[in-house]
Amino acid sequence: MDMFVIQGGKRLSGRVAVGGAKNSALPLMAAALAAEGETVLRGVPRLVDVDTLSALLESLGARVTRGGGGELSISVFNERPYIADYELVRRMRAGFCVLGPLLAKRGKACVSLPGGCNIGDRPIDLHLKGLRALGADIRIERGYVVARASRLRGTHLYLGGPFGSTVTGTCNVMVAAALAEGITTIEAGACEPEVVDLGNLLNAMGARITGLGTPTLRIDGVERLFGVEHSVIPDRIEAATLMMAAAITRGNVTLTNVCPDHMTSVLDTLNEMGVRIVLGDRSLEVSIEGPLRPVECVALPYPAIPTDVQAQLTALLATVPGMSIVTDKVFPDRFLHAPELVRMGARIRREGNSAIVSGVDRLSGACVMASDLRASAALVLSGLAAHGPTVVRRIYHLDRGYEHLELKLRQLGADISRVRDEPANVPEALQVGQHAPVAPPHFEPTVKPNRNRLR
Ligand code: UD1
Repeated sequence: MDMFVIQGGKRLSGRVAVGGAKNSALPLMAAALAAEGETVLRGVPRLVDVDTLSALLESLGARVTRGGGGELSISVFNERPYIADYELVRRMRAGFCVLGPLLAKRGKACVSLPGGCNIGDRPIDLHLKGLRALGADIRIERGYVVARASRLRGTHLYLGGPFGSTVTGTCNVMVAAALAEGITTIEAGACEPEVVDLGNLLNAMGARITGLGTPTLRIDGVERLFGVEHSVIPDRIEAATLMMAAAITRGNVTLTNVCPDHMTSVLDTLNEMGVRIVLGDRSLEVSIEGPLRPVECVALPYPAIPTDVQAQLTALLATVPGMSIVTDKVFPDRFLHAPELVRMGARIRREGNSAIVSGVDRLSGACVMASDLRASAALVLSGLAAHGPTVVRRIYHLDRGYEHLELKLRQLGADISRVRDEPANVPEALQVGQHAPVAPPHFEPTVKPNRNRLR
């Protein structure tokens, strides 16, 4: 197992490119099962989750090949398999996205229930509700969802749940409806850019979907879909993470391959905090010109603050003097990063689905443990800002969703390295009996305040 060793206190600066979106790439890959011929996706990040889904697609009769430049080609040569095995689906919830495509194209699907997850309950009842509304017969047997339908039929359905819309649920139902007979209207569908990206892929494949990016999707079913070439949208979560890495080190960073239109709520919140953001053409520059201000923010479905940046934002706010409140209404229990941040000197109190953050002048490096993908990113950000060394363990969570985050951060001047998780690799200052010297690695603003701009 690997871990990160970070020497905090380096102000990040420079330019770095954001990769293709993981949360787009995975449903797009699954949708290739519904098409005839070859689907070629461009800008697919090199991630453990992509490898896991590739293995799952191969087990379902697809040939998956990697080309240069993030190209991934998928062609189905055998339509007989219909069982998505527990061993693969349990490693990555997005494996459940094969349910809709398999059912619609092959008439039957047997997909393992994904099981538990560190960020809280992750039910799939809405996926099943949507597919049942399209006429599928669905049972749960021995830990698997067993679904059958000779031909799905279009319908009018409400897909909202107690926490709002469902992203992968909308993806599953949308792919199934694309091959159903007649017209389907989905109300309260997810509006996330990744759902729009999937809709665009399906339309290019021959589907007839309108209303993408709104809660009401109208899908006029077609007989067949055909493989096409498609580019994955930029990863708005990676972009937000890198912006917060710049902000937490009070640095100056330019990101390329970004789509600022997908990030309005994040840009707005950072702007409110006093982070200066200048937008370019598919790029943006982040800099800090004065002291940052605390904020109150709530993670909700798109276009609000994504739950997937809640942990990183909490880490950043932990370094901003004053009281901030971060609420997560999508995954109300997603706060496992908070006790680890407290180990680094952060002052965070959990109240229900909120973290009350009292910002401190400086964090102090420590050995911390990643609990899930975005919590890992939050710990890395804190390590960049902390005084002294930080060790982040269990970074296999991070590798599921960030392509070489440490290389991108190093490109910006961070002192971060990936080493084997062995006692000998823990910096001396963090070994038992050692105490880091008390010195102030306090990031002062570079220029005078009040020239925050967001355009
Ligand atoms: C997707 C993202 C994940 C992100 C999440 C919320 C992918 C591969 N993953 O996950 O990174 O954190 O959206 O933006 O795209 N819910 C139900 N019943 C259901 C399904 C969901 O009640 O059948 C609830 C969930 O418990 C949660 C909320 O709806 O409270 C949103 O979950 P959902 O959008 O489905 O998350 P995922 O699609 O699994």
